[in-house]
Amino acid sequence: MNEAATTAIRVEQTRQSKLPQVDFNNLKFGQTFSDHMLVADYVDGHWTDVSIVPYGNLSLSPATSALHYGQAIFEGMKAYRFANGTVSLFRPHKNLERFNKSALRLEMPEVPEDIFIGGLKTLIDLDRDWVPGAEGSSLYIRPFMFGTEPALGVHPSDSYKFIVITSPVGAYYHKSLRLKVETHFTRAAEGGVGFSKNAGNYALSLHPTRLAQQEGFDQLIWTDANEHKYVEEAGTANLLFRVGDTIITPSSDTILHGITRRTIIEIARHWGYQAEERKVSVKELIDGIEDGSVTEAFAAGTAATLTPITEIGYEGRIYTLPDPAKRVFSNKVLQYLNDLRYGRIDDEFGWNLIV
Ligand code: PLP
Ligand code: COI
Repeated sequence: MNEAATTAIRVEQTRQSKLPQVDFNNLKFGQTFSDHMLVADYVDGHWTDVSIVPYGNLSLSPATSALHYGQAIFEGMKAYRFANGTVSLFRPHKNLERFNKSALRLEMPEVPEDIFIGGLKTLIDLDRDWVPGAEGSSLYIRPFMFGTEPALGVHPSDSYKFIVITSPVGAYYHKSLRLKVETHFTRAAEGGVGFSKNAGNYALSLHPTRLAQQEGFDQLIWTDANEHKYVEEAGTANLLFRVGDTIITPSSDTILHGITRRTIIEIARHWGYQAEERKVSVKELIDGIEDGSVTEAFAAGTAATLTPITEIGYEGRIYTLPDPAKRVFSNKVLQYLNDLRYGRIDDEFGWNLIV
């Protein structure tokens, strides 16, 4: 699978950087894009023409298969700037691993490490001035792949594009969250594609999420497809709860295996907390909020970072969680993650990949 080990990356630099036009104090998530992008084509069973080119539009056939049948997957990751100017990626091999799992499930080709990680490093190195350094900000990285065969038969595309674009960002959520437990619509069923990061999982979330937002919620808490009895994840992040000295996160193959969640669980165990990855019923959660045993609840994801949940709506009632300022574990782990990602403390787990 390492056919690209010797593949050279062609670099075509932009003539004029857009950097001077960017207001780094006013970044909206995913709306500003850096100067360059990585593009590679999969043709005749091989990755070819791996190039870094000026960020720009694509030209596609209207019959492009991904536009019709949805062979489209993506990743979300971030690069951080240390105070001394060093630029670092956070656990990028985990994203590569998950990307290729998504690819397999959608009958798409794997992207080899040389193209994914090697391409990323070359791209970020070229656009390193785009990596913001202020606390809470970073360069969001969006690798994605889609089927490009211009054909309407329902079959796996015979050609694909792998592209990486990057965007300087601040926080995705600017306040703590009010989430609604969804008990009618379903995100993912067993045997389906819930664990994969494919475009369709997000498309199907838009209508139910809009309905919840019209009721004043920020996002949904998805529940299982069979009974709507078990908590799964939020639309853009995984969920974690604290009960006593145990950190609990719902886990199943209908849920995206989040890298932020994995990281928090590993840190929690390292610090001597218990951590449980298991089914969590809505009843367990609601009862725990009511009797005060659930002391912390938060959403965790690359874009979402760690965002406290303060209210949960379920069957017409609102359940309120303790004040985020008093949440010892959430605040400590967020501080630790920031210190690690911005290079202020020793990287004891070896999670930073310096570009
Ligand atoms: N769940 C969903 C649906 C997501 O979109 C994300 C974001 O990527 C996550 C969970 C968290 O995953 P990660 O921590 O790898 O970003
Ligand atoms: C991420 O956190 O990277 C995501 O993909 C969530 C969302 C922006 C789709």
